[in-house]
Amino acid sequence: MKIYVMEQSGVEHTLEGVEGWRLMSVIRDSGLPIKAECGGACSCATCHVYVADEWLWRLFPASSEEIDQLDGAFEVQGNSRLSCQIILNEEMDGLRVTLAPGTEA
Ligand code: FES
Repeated sequence: MKIYVMEQSGVEHTLEGVEGWRLMSVIRDSGLPIKAECGGACSCATCHVYVADEWLWRLFPASSEEIDQLDGAFEVQGNSRLSCQIILNEEMDGLRVTLAPGTEA
């Protein structure tokens, strides 16, 4: 499964997604600069990404915990999600996200 991740600089990377993995883990393990300080516990918001519009409706909705945590993130938009809360499945092949401000490692 291919996952496309754009840095804030505009450079896009093609990553190999793994079903059942957190999107944050795939991004971090690829070496891209993402803080993800809490390691996926939904308690830091430093794994914040913007999901491409065409993918927004295809993801399961954010939980109340994720929404609460996003309140503390920088520059939140309507397409903001926490990448540690997105569990990859085969239907997400081609998912496209952009790293948000405040996530730089
Ligand atoms: S890694 Fe901390 S909220 Fe996602």
